[in-house]
Amino acid sequence: MAAGLCPAAAVCAGLGTTLDRARFPAELLIVRGDLQRLISPRSLSSAEVTGLEGRIESALTGLEWLALEYAALTKSEIAQPLLQNLDRSWAQRNLLAVQGLVSQLSRMYPLNGTIFSAERATADDIKRARELDLQLCQGCHIDRVGTEKILPAYRLEEMAGNMPSDEFLARLLSGVRGTSDTALANPLSLGDIRGLLRLYQEGAVD
Ligand code: HEC
Repeated sequence: MAAGLCPAAAVCAGLGTTLDRARFPAELLIVRGDLQRLISPRSLSSAEVTGLEGRIESALTGLEWLALEYAALTKSEIAQPLLQNLDRSWAQRNLLAVQGLVSQLSRMYPLNGTIFSAERATADDIKRARELDLQLCQGCHIDRVGTEKILPAYRLEEMAGNMPSDEFLARLLSGVRGTSDTALANPLSLGDIRGLLRLYQEGAVD
């Protein structure tokens, strides 16, 4: 997180470490969700299927590194054999085995969402989240499931409604930083994330 872009450096510095610790558990939840969609691709276009495969492939490639970072930050052990099995199963495109392993890892390394809880959003957080959503997010996030795009920007409220809340938080934490999102990712503060969760998960979008 670039402190220069951050309106409240102290808060953001805190979020920096919190985000670093969240990266591995968040990635596991995202891969788990992407796999589920790939295994039963109801109503997905062929472009969406291609996009999902690409995302899972690159997520799995980076997983070992995230696991090392997580182990160092939390002084915990990472189950290396599980990660190796994961690579092997993906190479064989044994999707059910991959899904089983990712679910197992996700239970071992859960994302602790307490600090981001929508319940903690203040009135100001919600106001700012509404503005962000209206002025930025809604401009791109207009796609519906089934669109012929490799990387669609789905409607965020629908996305939130279609997945477990920890998975949506994970996507909010690590998804908002793709190339097109980079300039927007940095200014997101803890309060923004709480506010956005409140907005999308409770269907309060304008
Ligand atoms: C310039 C267009 C653009 C803007 C503005 C934008 N997004 Fe995105 N966003 C995208 C695209 C395209 C993707 C899909 C990239 C991908 O899946 O790798 C994406 C992905 C995401 C994801 C991850 C989705 C997933 O499937 O994992 C989340 C969450 C997200 N954006 C939230 C936001 C929020 C919140 C805002 C406003 C603060 C925002 N985005 C603003 C284009 C945009």
